[in-house]
Amino acid sequence: MARPTVVAGNWKMHGSRDTARALARAVVQGVGDATGLEVLLCPPFVHLLDVLEETAESPVQVGAQNVCDQPEGAFTGEVSVAMLAELGCSHAIIGHSERRHVYGESDELIERKFALLHQSTQQGDPDAPRAILCVGETLEEREAGRTLDVIHRQLQPARSFPDAFPRALIAYEPVWAIGTGVAATPDMAQEVHAAIRTHLEQEFGTAAQDTVVLYGGSVKAANASELFSMPDIDGGLVGGASLKADEFLSICQAVRK
Ligand code: 13P
Repeated sequence: MARPTVVAGNWKMHGSRDTARALARAVVQGVGDATGLEVLLCPPFVHLLDVLEETAESPVQVGAQNVCDQPEGAFTGEVSVAMLAELGCSHAIIGHSERRHVYGESDELIERKFALLHQSTQQGDPDAPRAILCVGETLEEREAGRTLDVIHRQLQPARSFPDAFPRALIAYEPVWAIGTGVAATPDMAQEVHAAIRTHLEQEFGTAAQDTVVLYGGSVKAANASELFSMPDIDGGLVGGASLKADEFLSICQAVRK
């Protein structure tokens, strides 16, 4: 099975209802029928409905930037898998480095989110969002030669739920490349992506060849085609550059070349 190429925009905490709608509308118009490419927009929770409305008649998918690790209950400020599914969210990002490093989310918490997304699909909600599990090392960890150790640890949810793939996606986002303007070189990223695929296959017996592994960290129009042309890079999780329609559409265009 050929893996699709996926370009996902993580809008983080930016924009208003008006700018979210305008950006979504511009992406829908620019992407057209999107053959050979899956486009996903991940706005803040409060803009999900607006963006879902703007994308309703198009192949552009809409996902959440996070989800709660519990199915329901007294969890102030949280949003559940079922709530996202009811809205029509196709994906949920979990384990983003800003959640891990700014909000102190642990591997255990992220594993519970992964489990819940997987189990919701299995327990009769075929429309439950697909997990995008983010992994990535800090600069300190890279310099200490610990990149793969860190990533193997962060892939732990895959060990417990190997059959979650290839429905679940992985995003390799080196922390030092996020928001810095300094992307990993295509060779550097390819090396880690290949290692992720090998680890999934050898350690967990997962459908690794069918699993989408995205690269994230300072992706822009100028480096997207080089990155996406690497054999194990199946597209991008784009932050800053996804906030400008022209730039984001140029990144989408890079896939088609
Ligand atoms: P930037 O593209 O702004 O570096 O952000 C990457 C990211 O964190 C996407 O999830």
